[in-house]
Parts: sequence; C-alpha cells; structure tokens
Amino acid sequence: MCGIVGILGNRPATPVIMETLHRLEYRGYDSAGIATLDEGKMQSRRAVGKLSELETLLAEQPLSGTSGIGHTRWATHGAANVENAHPHRAGTVAVVHNGIIENFRELRDELTAEGVNFASDTDTEVVAQLCARYIAAGKTPVEAAAATLARLQGAFALGFLFEGEHDLMIAARRGSPLAIGHGTGEMFIGSDALALAPLTNRITYLEEGDWAVLTRTGAEIFDALGNPVERELRIVNVDQVMIDKGSYRHFMAKEIHEQPSVMAFALSHYLNPERTAVSLPVEIDFSGLDRLVLVACGTAFYACNVAKYWFEQIARIPVEIDVASEFRYREPPMSGREGAIFISQSGETADTLAALRYVRGKAAHVLAVVNVPESSISREADASLQIMAGPEISVASTKAFTCQLSVLATLAIAAARQRDAIDATGETRLVKALTGAPQLVAQAIKQEPAMEAASRDLAKARDILFLGRGPLFPLALEGALKLKELSYIHAEGYPSGELKHGPIALIDDSVPVIVFAPSDDLFDKTVSNMEEVMARGGKVLLITDEQGAEAASHGTWRTIVLPATDPFVAPMVYAVPAQLLAYHTALEKGTDVDQPRNLAKSVTVE
Ligand code: F6R
Repeated sequence: MCGIVGILGNRPATPVIMETLHRLEYRGYDSAGIATLDEGKMQSRRAVGKLSELETLLAEQPLSGTSGIGHTRWATHGAANVENAHPHRAGTVAVVHNGIIENFRELRDELTAEGVNFASDTDTEVVAQLCARYIAAGKTPVEAAAATLARLQGAFALGFLFEGEHDLMIAARRGSPLAIGHGTGEMFIGSDALALAPLTNRITYLEEGDWAVLTRTGAEIFDALGNPVERELRIVNVDQVMIDKGSYRHFMAKEIHEQPSVMAFALSHYLNPERTAVSLPVEIDFSGLDRLVLVACGTAFYACNVAKYWFEQIARIPVEIDVASEFRYREPPMSGREGAIFISQSGETADTLAALRYVRGKAAHVLAVVNVPESSISREADASLQIMAGPEISVASTKAFTCQLSVLATLAIAAARQRDAIDATGETRLVKALTGAPQLVAQAIKQEPAMEAASRDLAKARDILFLGRGPLFPLALEGALKLKELSYIHAEGYPSGELKHGPIALIDDSVPVIVFAPSDDLFDKTVSNMEEVMARGGKVLLITDEQGAEAASHGTWRTIVLPATDPFVAPMVYAVPAQLLAYHTALEKGTDVDQPRNLAKSVTVE
C-alpha cells in the first residue's frame, strides 16, 4: 500500500530512486512522484499512472541532486491525479507517506482556520502543512517533524525532506513498515529491505513508534517518547535472482513455476526425512488446546479454509476461521485455551495485524505463518513459522499459497500426533504424501498447454463458476479470486453441493463451470452436482485425475487431467489450475497480470 523511498547519496539520486520505486511498484501503481535536492534547492515531478509515466516526464524534465524521496501510490484519500500524488510539498517541507492519517480532517480544519490553503485531497498533505507551520513558527526541521509526529493518529510510514537541508532526511514508522539502509557515505529509507537490496544489505528496521534523523553518516533513532534508542543493524541477504523475472514474461508465471522447488525447500525445514516425521522449528503444544482460530485475508484466508479441513479431520481439533477484517471487530470471546494462527505472505496486512493484536494475551498461543521474517506479524506473534517461498513480487499470490499450505499441513500432522489422533504409522503415511507434493505440483504444471487452451474460451465469458467439495471447496474460492483479480471476469466459488440451493439458476451455456474433482471419497457426490449443471445446458470444465476422467468426462466441455494424488495434498496440486487458468485468461484479455488494476500487494491500510 504505497511504496516510499529516500536517499541521502553521493551520486545522482533520481536513477537510484526510480530503480528502487520499480521494486516497490507492487505496493501501488496509480501515480508516482519524486522530489530531489540540488545544492539545497528542492524540485519535484509527479505523474498519474504507472512509473513509466513518471519516467517519461523525467526524460523531458530531468531532476538533478544527490538527495531525494520518491513514492508510488495506492490511493486511499483522493483520486489518482497529479495533485494527490506524493511527494506533498508545503513551504520547505516535502513528505512521502504510506498509510492513513486518521485525524487528518481535524488537522486540516485547524490549519484551514489558520489560513492554510490545501492543494490536494489527501490525508498526507496535512503532515507537510503542519510541519511547515512549525518551521514558520521558528522550530528547526527536526523539532518541527517531531512536533508534527506527536499530533498524528493512524498508521503510517513517513519520509521528510527539507529545502536548504542537503544532509537531512527524517523517517518515521507507526503501523506501516519502514527500513533504513546503511550505505558507504550514503543512507537510504525504503518500505522494505527488498527494495533496498541492490543498494545495501545493512538494514535497521524501525520499531513501532520510532522516528529517525538521517544524515549521510548514519541515523539517530528515537522512540515514540522521543528517547534516543539503539536498534539492531542486521545483514539482510535477499537473493537477487529471486527478484528478477528471469526468462519469464511475468513474475506470476515465474512464481507459479517456482512452486515445486520452494515447496520442497519449505518442507525440508519442517520434516525429518530420516524418521519420515514432522519436526517443527519451534515448539508448539497443541495437546491442551480447546480449538484453533485461523485468521487471514484473501488468498491466505483460503489457505486457512483448507487447513480447517486438515486440523479437524486429521488432528480432531475444532477450528474457527475468519477473515481478519471481520474477526477483529466481531470481538469474539476467547477462553484462553485457543491456539490462534495468523497467516500472511507479507506479514504486514493491517487487518491481520490488528486481529493478532486483539488476540494477544487472550489466547494460549499466538502463531504467525509468514513469508517475511522481519515483518510486523512475524515479530508480534509468540512464535513465527516461515513459509520460505522467497520474494513474491506478482500482486496475485501463488507460491506463497502453496507454501502456506505446506507449512499448515505439517502443523496439522504435528497437532494430530500430539493429540493422539494419529499414530506413528499415520504420521509416516501423511509425511510421505506431503514429501511427494512438490513433484505432483510439477506434474500439474506440465498440463499448462491444456489450461492455456481452455483459457482462450474462458476469456470470452462474462461470469464463471468454480465448484469443489471438502478441502477442494477453498480451491474453488481461490480459483474465482484469481480469475476476478487478474482478468476482471466475474467469478464465484461454491461448494458443489450448495449449487442447487440457489446459484444453479445462473447456469446456461454462456456460464462456464469449472469443477475441481480429484477421485477421492467425495468424487461421486461432486460428479452428481456436475451432472445437474450439464443437465441444464451448463458448460463444464472438469479438472480431475485419470481415474476421474475415465469415470466422468463424458458430456463435459473439456477435461483437464492432473496427476493422481493422495487426498491430503490434493489442495496443493489443484492450486495449479486455479492459478494458470487465471493467468492465461488474463493474458488472453490483455490485462496487466503482475499489477492488476485497483490492487496493491501489501495491504497496510484497513
Ligand atoms: C490474492 C492476494 C491477496 C492476499 C491478501 C493477503 O491473490 O494476493 O488476496 O492474499 O491481500 O495478503 P497477505 O498474505 O500479505 O496478508
């Protein structure tokens, strides 16, 4: 949700800022801007649309200087236009912001009453105007920024630059992530360490409420009360290969194809191959728990949906699942004997973080399952389990989903053993199935040409339904979400058995129905529901295994054959068509696969 970057450098700042913004573009891409200082004089450029628009503008009107700040925006307050693009400037101050200033109306009214004229509709401009006001009243830039921060409510990461102050930048973090990068005679700020990776691997993460005064020689950090504090300087090694598209046309394609290797890598940290047993990297006691509460958003929430089946069926522990934005305001009663698990690729999703904070102190265990070890959700949980998918750049989550499932599957087995729901033989069977999952995912990916062919027709549809039963029902939800967000075609996922209770009224030959049906115990039931669709002229794309295809492909529009799987790992394998059908349909429609409209990857606002 908005990416921010800053540099106090010893080389031209504009190319460095633009390159860094490209790595942050996944956070928002409806407008972008940059401000630099050249011999103390501030200039800025802002443009609507993707970074390429700003690049075009900078080619016509270049910016010089060795210090600067930059921003790529996902609009929250005010339309995506030039006036609302960051940096926001007032007097000698320029500000870039990620997050929401909740009391901005009150501050705006106060400043307007004092005669300040606002140039934008954003919440961010009050920060610049307030700071400029304090400077006009005689405060130094540092004092003015501190006084401004004390007045702000909400969640934010901020970068301040001041005209006439060639060697000064101020950074602040409350609720939204911000990293400080230490170079040689240069200092940087960035929304994540990934963005700073080519500049430096020496990173300090600001803690909640911290703010920092940066010069080219270092950073002085203060806590929310203004006390100087020491924060650890860490060496963060981000594999450059992982943030490159390589030979793929899109990050999404690369990330789908990476799944077998990243899943295997993740599983190797959770399984003991010699004993064919689960071996968790942190100690978790599931034995005395009443129930589990699994909370997340979007695709990560669908991983919770799958895990519910696993924990309930294998470990015999009741599971409650909820989307984070509902959970936190529902204020669910907690007995103190629950295990609460928060799942998030980014580890920064504001709703999931708020839900975690609600539960802290009320549940027996608070666990995070994340892809970014340094993230807020990871740091605020009692214990954090890494999914080890590597950087996921495409806005639509793919490899993080299958890695989340891999880790959750190991937790379900561990819980089952601890609660005596399975014995050592049962554990061995499940671990063997899990160990084979990456290979099956690789085989499923080999069916890409069949999925591509089906997508050519899917792209013509206005509405598409996805059906699945049991642990494949969440895959129907995931397939529909992926298709909606990438191709902008309306899609819904339903439990197969639910169709006859209403949605079957939608069926005619213009609505493709995609059925996920591995030949498991529920296969016959799903096929009956599929027959009901075909009896009404529905056009069915059946996704099954060879045995399922032999039994049920007659009369379908198309059948795609995936490898036969143990039912336990079928959700991982069927994630592949959920992803690739959406990917190829989007390509067919010509939409922006890696950066679909209106979205951003890391949703750090409520
Ligand atoms: C969909 C997608 C989103 C995210 C959701 C949660 O493809 O990517 O639905 O899954 O925004 O994000 P994280 O996992 O970062 O909390």
